[in-house]
Amino acid sequence: MPLPKAELHLHIEGTLEPELAFALAARNGIALPYADAEELRHKYRFSDLQSFLDLYYELMAVLRTEDDFADLAEAYLTRAAAQGVRHAEVFFDPQAHLARGVEMATVVDGLARALEGAPERHGVSTRLIMCFLRDESAESAAATLDAARPHLDHITGVGLDSAEVGHPPSKFREVYEKAANLGLRRVAHAGEEGPPAYITEALDVLGVERVDHGLRSVEDPDLVARLVRDRVPLTLCPLSNVRLRTVDVLADHPLRAMLEAGLMATVNSDDPAYFGGYADDNFHAVREALGLTDDQLRELARNSFLAAFLDDDEDLRKAYLAEVDAYRF
Ligand code: ADE
Ligand code: ZN
Repeated sequence: MPLPKAELHLHIEGTLEPELAFALAARNGIALPYADAEELRHKYRFSDLQSFLDLYYELMAVLRTEDDFADLAEAYLTRAAAQGVRHAEVFFDPQAHLARGVEMATVVDGLARALEGAPERHGVSTRLIMCFLRDESAESAAATLDAARPHLDHITGVGLDSAEVGHPPSKFREVYEKAANLGLRRVAHAGEEGPPAYITEALDVLGVERVDHGLRSVEDPDLVARLVRDRVPLTLCPLSNVRLRTVDVLADHPLRAMLEAGLMATVNSDDPAYFGGYADDNFHAVREALGLTDDQLRELARNSFLAAFLDDDEDLRKAYLAEVDAYRF
């Protein structure tokens, strides 16, 4: 039985397995420029974040109907539950769908149908987090937040993703302020490829409660001291970092040093269909590569539930933490 955990950094569009991409393409009468799923899988070799994003956005063409989004989320939940995920906070990228003529309601209703049935069907509680594409304009982000307003009963928070370098968090100051006024929780990718200063900006300018990745914080001792002092959760994604060449090999990943420095690290899968593993695969990989102890693995799992947006259900958080404490490796 896998260690119980929460997944806090997961792009639902990044769970599109090649086989499902082909099935949805067929259902929607879309021709993919690959012979089959096998050939497509061979394209999953990336040199950096942008080379991955190019394929990630291209394959979204197969997602057109509410059923497509529901089926995508359902497939993820099935896999996540089998990997010990008890709680999943799921990102989605509405601008990438709106730009293709797919409406916000289609996306949110499809995802919400699968996510909101997940406690009964999979034993997984869920939250939905809407991400702004940071390589699009601040005005586009604001229009996206407006488009989401009729759907906020399904949306817990906002995030910031896509190509990081050259798109600092401060570009999105106003839309994050509006989101906060609407009662939305705030997270942002920062320090994946971008500099430590972007992490500081995400905290100071956007008011984020968690930092997605935060990997490059290790380059700035003052920032590390602040993140430790304030117990700011970092949603690290080790297999993603290797596949996108942010770290050369997993044995070089700073996760263990980060835990030993007192950082509130969590382990997540990011875009598991593209990066070679779901949540527990990431746990196994870091345990092997970094020699993590059982106590460190337990700490990662505890951190994931402590950092989850479960403030409206503290009993559930407590139950999850008790499950981690009772877990026998
Ligand atoms: N969108 C999907 N995955 C992402 C990642 N790892 N970084 C930035 N944007 C993303
Ligand atoms: Zn991500």
